[in-house]
Amino acid sequence: MTVFTQQNGQLFCEQVALADVQQQYGSPTYVYSRKAITEAFEAYKAGLGNHPGLICYAVKANSNIAVLQVLAELGAGFDIVSQGELERVLAAGGDASKVVFSGVAKRPQEMRRALEVGIHCFNVESRAELEVLAAVAAEEGKVAPVSLRVNPDVDAKTHPYISTGLKENKFGVDIDEAIEHYKWAAAQASLKVVGVDCHIGSQLTEAQPFFDAQARVLNLVDTLAENGIELEHVDMGGGIGVRYENDDTPPNITESVQQMIANLGERKLGLLLEPGRSIVANAGALLTEVIYLKSTEAHNFAIVDAAMNDMIRPALYQAWMEILPVQAAKVAAKEYDVVGPVCETGDFLGKKRTLAIEQGSVLAMLSAGAYGFVMASNYNTRGRAAEVMVDGAQVHLIRERETVESLFAGEHRLG
Ligand code: LLP
Repeated sequence: MTVFTQQNGQLFCEQVALADVQQQYGSPTYVYSRKAITEAFEAYKAGLGNHPGLICYAVKANSNIAVLQVLAELGAGFDIVSQGELERVLAAGGDASKVVFSGVAKRPQEMRRALEVGIHCFNVESRAELEVLAAVAAEEGKVAPVSLRVNPDVDAKTHPYISTGLKENKFGVDIDEAIEHYKWAAAQASLKVVGVDCHIGSQLTEAQPFFDAQARVLNLVDTLAENGIELEHVDMGGGIGVRYENDDTPPNITESVQQMIANLGERKLGLLLEPGRSIVANAGALLTEVIYLKSTEAHNFAIVDAAMNDMIRPALYQAWMEILPVQAAKVAAKEYDVVGPVCETGDFLGKKRTLAIEQGSVLAMLSAGAYGFVMASNYNTRGRAAEVMVDGAQVHLIRERETVESLFAGEHRLG
């Protein structure tokens, strides 16, 4: 159920009118719902039931400390891709022993820190990385728990930029070559082979590719077992899609998880998942104010105070995200291209949107909780947006708007 609802012509997040949030905190501002994050995580937990698996939230989707705190308090594990994300998880009160470390280029320093705090598992993506990890762990006198990320060569049927499980992608090791790397790893005193991992892509709107990938991964698990290498877990990555448009029909979270557990059959394996988007996307909106309306022969433009530096998904992935006024203006609706102030033609939030708005109207871009703020930049020397979290009738400021001075605080004039 969405927590963004219309009440008497006003758009609300939980019990808070978004118009009030904009009044108090200005714009652009990201607004997240604690309830929506909680419900999405609970849908995964319901899928696990009493299966000994682990839901590791993919921190990259939204790494605000308060978001991580909410999830840590619900018992989540975390999927990280950098030491920076690890430090955030720890600062938020996350449990290091429930952290999996993904990513194609972990550096020795990052491995050392992860070993020091005792993470659950390193998801290793190449032989070269496996060798460095073995050496680093040996130097530290530690044993690194490892899982190999294999590339099952399955088409996730999603946007090419967020499709990761094909042979042509840079991610993981070829599933057919994995066995020799496992044998090597199993022979190292400083490594403990614990799992296998894959992630085939993001925003999957069908569940079947997950099950196809899982079948291939389980074949590998069986072959490894025949070779005396027994795994403890299978990590199917993230990727369950969300509804951006009304006719998007993403897989049901709880049912998909249950099916993945059923697919394990008699094997004594825990299921691990790394969902990001499906936990936070629909829990967030980006508030923005209309600065000017401008009409040319071809278009009506609504020029707003949020730009591609705040939300790059439309520019980068041709993403369509719903844009609604937080309060309808008493004017005739027109078709607008909603664009930002940045000097790029690609700077748009949405095109051809029918909106009843005027100068000063406030808009909410929905489904903006994932890959929104985290992908923001300071392009055009624009400070990054404020972030707030709604909890019932309360609003918490969870990140202050960046000040202009802070943007060049680390820069130096010559001499
Ligand atoms: N695990 C790994 C290894 C990943 O690379 C990712 C996402 C996830 C888990 C989480 O996937 P999710 O459940 O969020 O689909 N910026 C793009 C999405 C990039 C996804 C990158 N990897 C977007 O805005 O659509």
